[in-house]
Amino acid sequence: MAFKHIADLGDLTGKIAVVRVDLNVPMVDGVVTDDTRLEAVKPTVDAIAAKGGRSVLLAHFGRPKGQVVPEMSLKPVVPALAKVLGREVGFAELGDTLPDTDVVVMENTRFFPGEEKNDVELAKRFAALGDIYVNDAFSCAHRAHASTEAIAHLMPSVAGETMGAELEALEKALGAPVRPVVAVVGGAKVSTKLDVLHNLVAKVDHLIIGGGMANTFLYAEGIDVGASLCEKDLKDTALKIIEEAKAAGCKVHIPSDVVVAKEFKANAAHEVKPATAVAADEMILDAGPKSVAELIGVLEGAKTLVWNGPLGAFELTPFDAATVALAKAAGKLTDEGKLLSVAGGGDTVAALAHAGVKDSFTHISTAGGAFLEWMEGKALPGVVALG
Ligand code: 3PG
Repeated sequence: MAFKHIADLGDLTGKIAVVRVDLNVPMVDGVVTDDTRLEAVKPTVDAIAAKGGRSVLLAHFGRPKGQVVPEMSLKPVVPALAKVLGREVGFAELGDTLPDTDVVVMENTRFFPGEEKNDVELAKRFAALGDIYVNDAFSCAHRAHASTEAIAHLMPSVAGETMGAELEALEKALGAPVRPVVAVVGGAKVSTKLDVLHNLVAKVDHLIIGGGMANTFLYAEGIDVGASLCEKDLKDTALKIIEEAKAAGCKVHIPSDVVVAKEFKANAAHEVKPATAVAADEMILDAGPKSVAELIGVLEGAKTLVWNGPLGAFELTPFDAATVALAKAAGKLTDEGKLLSVAGGGDTVAALAHAGVKDSFTHISTAGGAFLEWMEGKALPGVVALG
């Protein structure tokens, strides 16, 4: 899908861009604790300012469900955003006269019941704030809301800088990738990633399954996983995914050796053993070293990697070892120019940061739900509306 970008717009002197951004940032006691999403706003605000325009930002915070919830006001985000942007940032509610600042943050779009209903009347009020619409919130693009979808049909609309970079990276990773393509899908439960797995087996050459999800696949293959997290009721589904993969020529990798412990806690006594030798009172908490060495070999033969979800209980040392080792190998191959690597999803970003390879990956998405829906192969309404 081809999109217009800010570069395609003419001079914006005297004009206002209504920019949908994601300010749904982690906050403790009114203080923003992670600037990543604020930093993502800067390229677009700068690009609009370079053309002489001002930016009025639309965003949500939390899930107030159409009610005014004072604790979910976007006002506390303003000082942190001003610092990151290096610009004066004002704040306004819909209906207020806009302050005369380069950038204005509007109050939480989800305080209006019409936002989540994709209400055209509310979208018209948002559109009336400016002259053009810029969607720079890929992480909200899976929501068909007034500020992400309906508004794009009401005024000239373009993709923002961060959204543009995200779409380009994702296209290179799964749209028209250089093969072989490897996908790593980890995390606790198969049930939350069924659509992802069904979509990926048809698109990638290697599917690496990790985390608690791998236990369900081991169980489906008749292997006793002891006291491990396992969705036994999904046995047939797991077998079907393996069948689909075979038919599509996708090789599925599940661990042949594992790290087991009897307690789910950091530094619990643990042991490496074949996946076929797990005792009734043991839990699989990570992939073993033999599996990791095999997976690194798979990455070495690949050209493109898409990663969502850790391989083990990475938040508990030493059960982070497989995730860290594979992430480091992916980071090194990317640094050497041999691999294009894209990752996304909350846990994944934390795991890659923990492995110290966040800066090595080609692209790390700040999106959670939207990244997963993209991996499921779904059209994202906020993206489609820009086309
Ligand atoms: C996110 O945090 O992933 C986005 O801001 C979307 O938030 P939502 O899941 O509440 O729509």
